[in-house]
Amino acid sequence: MNLPFLKKKDVAAFDIGSSSIKLVQMNQTKKGWELVKLGMAELPPEAIVDGSIIDAMTVTNTLRDLIKAHGVKVKDAVSSLTGHSVIIKKVSFPAMTEDELAESIQWEAEQYIPFPITDVNIDFQILGADTEGRGQMDVMLVAVKKDVINDYTNVIKEAGLNPVVIDVDSFALENMMEINYPVAPGENIAMVNIGASITSISVILGGLTIFTRSIPMGGNQFTEEIQRQMNISFKDAEEMKVGKKAPGADASLPAAIETISTNLAFEVKRSLDFFLGGSQGSYVNKIYLSGGGSKVTGLQNLMQEKTTIPIEIANPFKNLEVNAKTFDKETLKEQAPFFGVAVGLATRRFADR
Ligand SMILES: Nc1ncnc2c1ncn2[C@@H]1O[C@H](COP(=O)(O)OP(=O)(O)OP(=O)(O)O)[C@@H](O)[C@H]1O
Ligand SMILES: [Mg+2]
Repeated sequence: MNLPFLKKKDVAAFDIGSSSIKLVQMNQTKKGWELVKLGMAELPPEAIVDGSIIDAMTVTNTLRDLIKAHGVKVKDAVSSLTGHSVIIKKVSFPAMTEDELAESIQWEAEQYIPFPITDVNIDFQILGADTEGRGQMDVMLVAVKKDVINDYTNVIKEAGLNPVVIDVDSFALENMMEINYPVAPGENIAMVNIGASITSISVILGGLTIFTRSIPMGGNQFTEEIQRQMNISFKDAEEMKVGKKAPGADASLPAAIETISTNLAFEVKRSLDFFLGGSQGSYVNKIYLSGGGSKVTGLQNLMQEKTTIPIEIANPFKNLEVNAKTFDKETLKEQAPFFGVAVGLATRRFADR
């Protein structure tokens, strides 16, 4: 049945990262999802720092240019946040219905949030009913600082679109996985999204995110270490890292990459050990990598060695219908790591208001 009043509007998804803004638009078809638009625009290093917008004007202009360059016609936009302005915690509440929790969430959540409760927007997901008969239930609590949300909604408004949702990176990745790598019930998979400045780690159990953590480390650390060891500019170091510029005979490049890869692999292992320590009898079956930082040579192997968990780089386009005339297959493969969050965001649909 196709009821007109239930028609869902298409959205444009923008993953506003610290190194670039990614745009994805998708169309829901009878078979699944079709890729409609894909774009990326670089941001200067100081525009967004640690997940906060510092130079709103530059971000707005970059966003506006991206919208124009790709002829985005839809008006509704979704975006997401990550980093220290987002608090995600699994907590235990007295068993109650979703409506009851919605009523009392401000009150219940207060003790778990390190910011004044009036400064955050709170959301939650009930993870499951009480299994131990203690009259308690597990809830995923999500709190995001209002001022940071406002900064993101403002740049979207200034760029001419209507921000309908500001999500969290980890949840967007959960949606991306749902359409591309459906998880078997009872299977834990970990997502490691390595951005330029932030790496977010999450564990998805049977399709639901049950653990998240973000660490202030990413591709920038590789560039900074190369810069330091080779005594060159950030720009040159960045070009060498991504293979745009030859490093010459100097062995510092692989050494710098190995140092940071080892640190990052260790941090990922530490987070997963922490998760496993807190949930008895569970284990992580597989790690999926995303983010531009996952393209660092040798990182995947090193992380697999350190964590002893099989690792694969997630392809967010895997199950999408892609018109070969519009999108070049090789380019898509090359760009896949950048678009995990944006593809996940682009699956969100909202009824006409
Ligand atoms: N070929 C490559 N090899 C290694 N690193 C790469 C390559 N291409 C891009 N990167 C790195 O990927 C990072 C950008 O990734 P991504 O776009 O996922 O980050 P972001 O979303 O902008 O940042 P954040 O999420 O941290 O705010 C940069 O540090 C960039 O240097
Ligand atoms: Mg990112």
